[in-house]
Amino acid sequence: MAKVERLIRLSETHPILPDEFIPWHLKENQEPLMPEEIISLYGHPLFDTLTAHQKRELGRHELVQVMYSYAWAEGLACMVFNKRILNISPESVEYRYLVKELIEEFRHQDMFARAIRMLNGNKITLPWFQKFIGKFTASYFPTSYQFMSVLAIELLTDVYGELVRKSPDIFEPLRKVAELHHIEEGRHIHYTRIWLKHYTENAGFFKRTVFSYVVLLNIWYMRSLYVTKQNFEAIGVKDPAKFTREARKNLKKNFGRLYLREIIEFVNSFNGFNFLTKPMWRRLLAAEI
Ligand SMILES: [Fe+2]
Ligand SMILES: [Fe+2]
Repeated sequence: MAKVERLIRLSETHPILPDEFIPWHLKENQEPLMPEEIISLYGHPLFDTLTAHQKRELGRHELVQVMYSYAWAEGLACMVFNKRILNISPESVEYRYLVKELIEEFRHQDMFARAIRMLNGNKITLPWFQKFIGKFTASYFPTSYQFMSVLAIELLTDVYGELVRKSPDIFEPLRKVAELHHIEEGRHIHYTRIWLKHYTENAGFFKRTVFSYVVLLNIWYMRSLYVTKQNFEAIGVKDPAKFTREARKNLKKNFGRLYLREIIEFVNSFNGFNFLTKPMWRRLLAAEI
């Protein structure tokens, strides 16, 4: 409880406002928009066939797509938090924290939307099936599973945010977007972990298995939104379908190797790997476990 009180105080005394924190007025001057190593095709021989301009533009479209998907997922998280606060007392620590988190998540969505407009890249609305699954689970699943899904996405955003934040030559407004998000998500992750500890501590085999699947499917879902054929069409490659196919495979490989460490640690912390979950983690996410 004392920890959550501290987080609430942090939100009050150190709010980070996108309108002030991000130098929105700056104009692009050929700086990279995304670190190359997180572009889907990075490391693949096809990546070297792209011109510097095409690489930069691919970064633009992928970043826009990623921010759009995250903002969408944050909207869903807000729905879950809203449902939760309708059932708890305004005096409770949980209520007070969740209201702060809601305010921050709404600011993030506002910030992502502004960054998307600023970059003016492709944004492809999510496929109906993914929208349906997202809305369905946010409406009908038990709260602990919903929080697990929120945490999975926050952990993933954080991995990407960290890479952008640590690249000094990235276009400054984008670096600051990543920095802001990293700071506030760090606090949210801390809270959600405390909250979930209560649910995972004494969870039996069945529950741990389902929790593990919730994390796995969320990560897989976010990753699948990253690469689109439209992006390759937009940068004018000869065979966009082939580039898309290869980029998907390449991203899967890089992803398993580079981005899952924290997430695997988390799943390990509640003993979420077993004979029912491990094969799927390997198959869908190429996880090295
Ligand atoms: Fe956020
Ligand atoms: Fe968050």
